[in-house]
Amino acid sequence: MADHRTRVAVVFGGTSGEHGVSCLTAAGVLGALDPARYEVLGIGITRSGRWVLVDNATLAGLQVVDGRLPELSEDAADAVLLRDGAGTELATRPAAGTGRAALSALGRIDVALALLHGPFGEDGTIQGLFEMMGTRYVGAGVLASAVGMDKHVMKLVLSASGLPVGPFVPIPAAAWARDPDACLEAVAALGLPVFVKPARGGSSLGITKVDRAEDLPAAVAEAHRFDPKVIVEQGFVGARELECGVLADLEGGPPAASQVAEIRVHSASGFYDFEAKYLPEEQVDLDVPADISAELAARVQDLAVRTFEAIGCEGLARVDVFATADGHVVVNEINTMPGFTTMSMFPRMWAASGIGYPELVDRLIQLALQRPLGLR
Ligand SMILES: Nc1ncnc2c1ncn2[C@@H]1O[C@H](COP(=O)(O)OP(=O)(O)O)[C@@H](O)[C@H]1O
Ligand SMILES: [Mg+2]
Repeated sequence: MADHRTRVAVVFGGTSGEHGVSCLTAAGVLGALDPARYEVLGIGITRSGRWVLVDNATLAGLQVVDGRLPELSEDAADAVLLRDGAGTELATRPAAGTGRAALSALGRIDVALALLHGPFGEDGTIQGLFEMMGTRYVGAGVLASAVGMDKHVMKLVLSASGLPVGPFVPIPAAAWARDPDACLEAVAALGLPVFVKPARGGSSLGITKVDRAEDLPAAVAEAHRFDPKVIVEQGFVGARELECGVLADLEGGPPAASQVAEIRVHSASGFYDFEAKYLPEEQVDLDVPADISAELAARVQDLAVRTFEAIGCEGLARVDVFATADGHVVVNEINTMPGFTTMSMFPRMWAASGIGYPELVDRLIQLALQRPLGLR
């Protein structure tokens, strides 16, 4: 009998620092997809950037062992996408050193789900590949992904849309090389403290909170290690850090906002840095839902949905905001592929809002399937 299941290509791993986390996410998603309705085709991107085929048993086995995150093997068989008139096909070729045979066809892909974070995953690049290959895919398109990834362009788009963001100064590598004093002068207008960030970073990597002007050059150099483009932002002192999930509607209605959550950080750095995110030994409390007034929650939810719409986002996003001591709510960032392990904030906020992890994954795939190919 013909197999009528939807064929989902789950793309995960990647060359970024979030390789292991992405592998965990993929294993979680595999476990959440109803095997009677979905066939999962695992496509791993190794640390060196190779695309490899990962069978379901191997995928399910990508778990933390002895406190170590999983990593994809470099010597698995190649995974190859082929474009035909109607869409995308998956094929494979044996690994190097095994007397490489011809490609073997593995059939049509109905939808792709890229569980990659950061540059070359969440920034429009893989979305562009899917567009070229005629593949339907989960989540934001090329432009919204790229805008969401770049903290400078994101803030330009949001402020032009009338949405509140904090003051910021971009420092492209060329400007810094040409005239660092002019850059520092522009930054001085922000006051102190400031946050110095790689413009297209994630997981807080390369971010420094700067309290003294003399520490700025080192912080800019540190951020430039991660990205030629750096952004310096005015620090919000004493603000509460809140997050809200946004999900597109299956019937074409307005996007929905989840319950709001709060991040309360007690780490030495005083902000939600890499250690607080991934080594949470009492450095951080995650309140889902946040202990805030209904009025503040409603304002955060409204801002989250408007942020989602301002960048033309699709599918899902997590919007992170600061609620300042004097009662303002400003957008810190939008993440178009938020952390998505079963333990991550996005699924937890939706669980608190009545949508469990399997239902969430199912809804994202259904949203992607109903989207037309081409310009939308
Ligand atoms: N302007 C700011 N004021 C106060 N805290 C900030 C500011 N920008 C960032 N932070 C802190 O740094 C963390 C990481 O910054 P963020 O811009 O979210 O980077 P990433 O994309 O790596 O998550 C935030 O979660 C927050 O704790
Ligand atoms: Mg963040």
